[in-house]
Amino acid sequence: MQAPLIDPFHRPISYLRVSVTDRCDFRCTYCMAEHMTFLPKKELLTLEELDRLCSAFVGLGVEKLRITGGEPLVRKGIMTFFRAMARHLESGALKELTLTTNGSQLERFAPELAAMGVRRVNVSIDTLEEAKFAAITRWGRLPQVLKGIAAAQAAGMRVKINAVALKGFNEDELFTMTEWCAREGHDLTFIEVMPMGEMGEETRLDQYWPLRDLRARLAERYTLTDLTERTGGPARYVRLEETGSKIGFITPLTHNFCESCNRVRLTCTGELYMCLGQEDMADLRAPLRASPDNAVLEHAIRDAIARKPKGHDFDYSRQRVAGQVSRHMSHTGG
Ligand code: GTP
Ligand code: 5AD
Ligand code: SF4
Repeated sequence: MQAPLIDPFHRPISYLRVSVTDRCDFRCTYCMAEHMTFLPKKELLTLEELDRLCSAFVGLGVEKLRITGGEPLVRKGIMTFFRAMARHLESGALKELTLTTNGSQLERFAPELAAMGVRRVNVSIDTLEEAKFAAITRWGRLPQVLKGIAAAQAAGMRVKINAVALKGFNEDELFTMTEWCAREGHDLTFIEVMPMGEMGEETRLDQYWPLRDLRARLAERYTLTDLTERTGGPARYVRLEETGSKIGFITPLTHNFCESCNRVRLTCTGELYMCLGQEDMADLRAPLRASPDNAVLEHAIRDAIARKPKGHDFDYSRQRVAGQVSRHMSHTGG
């Protein structure tokens, strides 16, 4: 047994998020430009290399693996990779294998994912109105995503809906989304919009809907009970007593949760980002390719973890955007 990964702030790193592609079949306005330049395919790690890298992390104590993108299900051959990771579920080394998806391809892949042991899936939906959905995702269509969600449920997976809280966009849908999720049996998590990727400062500030305010609005209609349970991610949950459903809040701006950070992010080219909100990263592709034996790679992983910063510097409190990072969310998958 190897020594676990512990960062300089004594936080054990047990959660790896892997962005398997920077590509996506949607173009959510707060996340991507309409005309993005994607990585040339030859830059990507092969699925075998991704397997070796992720397996090295599992060997170092990672227990939760979340596959992200871009949109993970548009990467060619991705089921081969999921199958490879499922062997760590079977061995008991991984406690959870899951994904964050826009849902567009779920109808096709849900049965296979469920059969491999994926028990939960997070699907991003910011609005339940078709026209607004088409507008915010530019290329996405809501009915296709709803079919994907239905397929995931039919396959026995739990669905968590992720909604970015956007002022003037989905404020008026707070209760319709809450009620829909309660009816359908989905958990729902709201996320504060983070300054990632170039977007005018004014637009970000105009969009920002502090979850403190959203929570207060919810409390006007429902009785909220704080829950202590965690899923290993940054969300803090409440139960709505009237519906019995769960609502999560991801609050990088109003309540910083970095002190309990347990995760790092790997990109499809083998960059390891130690924090979503910082620019620093470590290249793991060179050490991966340097030798077929994992000693060099594990050394590089430990060196990277030793550089994990305390947290992000996102801040809008002075009516200015501070702590912005230049990467788009699609680079590291959130
Ligand atoms: P659960 O396992 O369901 O708890 O998932 P999770 O919340 O870890 O993952 P998910 O992919 O649903 O994350 C939702 C969003 O939360 C991400 O896309 C990010 O926007 C945000 N998020 C997740 N982890 C972090 C983090 O470490 N820091 C910050 N600032 N935001 C994060
Ligand atoms: N701020 C907060 N969340 C974002 N997402 C994408 N861009 C941002 C941003 N700038 C969300 C997506 C999806 C997840 C991967 O990250 O809506 O739920
Ligand atoms: Fe939308 Fe996610 Fe794709 Fe970005 S990565 S465009 S948020 S679906």
